[in-house]
Amino acid sequence: MSDAFILRCIGCGASASPAGNCRCPHCGELLEALYPGLRIESPGEWQARWRARRDSDRPEDASGVWRFRELLPILDRAENAVTLREGNTPLYELPRCARMAGLERLWAKHQGMNPSGSFKDTGMTAAISRAKQEGYAWVACASTGNTSASMAAYAARAGLRALVLVPEGKITASKLAQALDYGARTIQLRTDFDGCVRVLAELVGKLPLYLVNSVNPFRLEGQKTAAFEIAESCGWQAPDHVIVPGGNLANASALGNGFRELRQLGLIARQPRLSIVQAAGANPLVRSWREHGGERLEPVAAETAASAIRIGNPASWKKAVAVLRETGGACLDVSEEEIASAKAAIGAEGIGCEPASAAALAGAIRLAGAGFIGCDERVVLVLTGHMLKDPEYVMARAAHPPVVEAAPEAVLREMERA
Ligand code: F0G
Repeated sequence: MSDAFILRCIGCGASASPAGNCRCPHCGELLEALYPGLRIESPGEWQARWRARRDSDRPEDASGVWRFRELLPILDRAENAVTLREGNTPLYELPRCARMAGLERLWAKHQGMNPSGSFKDTGMTAAISRAKQEGYAWVACASTGNTSASMAAYAARAGLRALVLVPEGKITASKLAQALDYGARTIQLRTDFDGCVRVLAELVGKLPLYLVNSVNPFRLEGQKTAAFEIAESCGWQAPDHVIVPGGNLANASALGNGFRELRQLGLIARQPRLSIVQAAGANPLVRSWREHGGERLEPVAAETAASAIRIGNPASWKKAVAVLRETGGACLDVSEEEIASAKAAIGAEGIGCEPASAAALAGAIRLAGAGFIGCDERVVLVLTGHMLKDPEYVMARAAHPPVVEAAPEAVLREMERA
């Protein structure tokens, strides 16, 4: 499977070999993985093979990432994949949220149902497998909490040491607990996420650390498989719209790449519009898109209760702009209130997601209201993280459950009052 891919710079177009800082040695831009020789003779056969692997006991087949391995040939041997059976996440229909948005039908791809509770696992299995193959002893990331939880888990599976840098007091207790539980060397810095990224970039230049933030092109190769699963669930047709929350802005481009590759290989007829939703308090891409047509991005001081996407200087903004342009997607921001009410609406369907994920529904409601999404179009939201990632958010907003005597009458009295 090796040498089936090239890494190409998205800025100057030069080919590059995998490097410590994941950037082009000539111009410093990000890299992307491409597969020049990849062709599909009989799509139906491949689709059947990918589907059949779900029933296999082999870890590399049971993984929702590696069952598509022909489309991400980045490992020497598929058996070397470091996997926790990521992917294969459910696509739920959300009938009440659809009504709220004025849409006939609406679906959510729940990436929070991954092993560590977020979409990061689909990328992390790829990055950590590469780290192992390249012979690294240490992997590292800066994080708002989900990347670090995921990296810590996969590093532990692989027997690698993990260095986590997180902003002090700015990630949820659940996410911090995951990194600690999986044994990562976890250090809190007196800064924000963007500050952690800066410090780690300097360390990566000095130490043999394998960087697994989403600037790592292999991460995106894993994350693009969510697009394959969405297409597969829709009978190998793309939906009309896919809507994702945007933070560091890699996931949007991963999904965009996934759908583009499917179209280029003749597996789907056309790509969905891919729209990106940011929190109004952490909206550098929205400003760039609105004020500079996506030509340049000015970092902002980020503030939102959706801590996963509290990011002011997103690394992958150029990749995100490319996807917006290519697919004709929208780029918008939503208020804290819109995020909270969207999250409550998703919860009321029996589906728990974290606040950042709910931004996708808040965005869909806006886009449907503005006529950008037609009421009969097929829309898939990407729910990026699980509710249990941030129970504090719910507890701070929900009515506090009453405390009464342990007696049936007391319960009845309380029920009548309500
Ligand atoms: N949703 C959740 C739950 C996230 O954790 C993140 C990013 C995003 C959305 C945004 O995805 O960065 O690809 O645009 N979390 C990162 C982290 C930054 O460190 O866990 P993106």
